[in-house]
Amino acid sequence: MIDLSTELAGIRLANPLVAASGVFGYGEEYARLGDIRWFGAVSVKGTTLEPREGNPPPRVCETPSGMLNSIGLENPGAEVAARKKIPWLRQFGVPIIVNISGNTYEEFSELGAIFSDVEGISALEVNVSCPNVASGGLTFGMDARSSYRATLSVRKTWKGPLIVKLTPNSPDIVSIARAAVEGGADILSLINTLIGMAIDIKTRRPVLGNVTGGLSGPAIKPVALRCVYQVSQAVEVPIIGMGGVSSYRDVLEFIMAGASAVGIGAGLLVDPLLPKKILADLEEYCREEGIATLTGLTGCAWRE
Ligand SMILES: Cc1cc2nc3c(=O)[nH]c(=O)nc-3n(C[C@H](O)[C@H](O)[C@H](O)COP(=O)(O)O)c2cc1C
Repeated sequence: MIDLSTELAGIRLANPLVAASGVFGYGEEYARLGDIRWFGAVSVKGTTLEPREGNPPPRVCETPSGMLNSIGLENPGAEVAARKKIPWLRQFGVPIIVNISGNTYEEFSELGAIFSDVEGISALEVNVSCPNVASGGLTFGMDARSSYRATLSVRKTWKGPLIVKLTPNSPDIVSIARAAVEGGADILSLINTLIGMAIDIKTRRPVLGNVTGGLSGPAIKPVALRCVYQVSQAVEVPIIGMGGVSSYRDVLEFIMAGASAVGIGAGLLVDPLLPKKILADLEEYCREEGIATLTGLTGCAWRE
């Protein structure tokens, strides 16, 4: 019997696969394409205090081995998420992570308070790494002090497991990771997208309505792996690694680099059935390699 289960600060996941925030909405569309129970946990769309319409179109474009998005945190707002979206998602019995984004420290505290009253949330994920909004988002995650303060702001009102999501756009992700842990993070997730752009040579203008966007997909995997490898050696908390996962091999690389669970983002847009395939391949890999427990591999690339 092969054990693919894992644990994140007391949250039990049946397997290490996590639906990354932003490609899964609140699960309603995905439930028509695949099975939410394939995931060990799901992270819902970045949710803000007030509803947001997001950025002007076009908001996505394909790039070599990846994609750019500048969605700009389109979401129905915390109230609707708390009252309608999360109660619906609870029926699947899969741990729910609510990804939150604030414009100010006070907003982060308020979001923590709102979701404290909602049943069935396993963790909050503080997005201090969104590159697609003018205020808040990435501005918090680029600097250790503001990452610490944003984390602390949620910690004050939210007593459950707290995830902080880190950006690869800061020059020193390790010090940001340490600051988030100091501020009260129980888990870190990394990486969010890398800032990029594309230009249409016919119109001679940027492709995205927002000019810049976040790069994701296989193109960013080496950067993401390097970040997980560095951060997991610097902090004691478990890590959800992500960036460019499109096969079981990628999942294993993230685990070996130090991740306890692995997010899938753009890969789900390419193939919604990807988690099912990855789980079957992981089981086969473990059988072939004589591995009984997948988590035994966490950090083996640097541990003795
Ligand atoms: C269309 C799209 C929307 C996203 N929205 C969010 C979001 O709301 N909050 C967040 O923390 N990350 C968001 N992300 C980032 C992903 O969760 C993930 O960190 C990143 O895309 C890297 O993983 P991937 O290469 O597997 O996509 C978004 C990514 C994409 C592609």
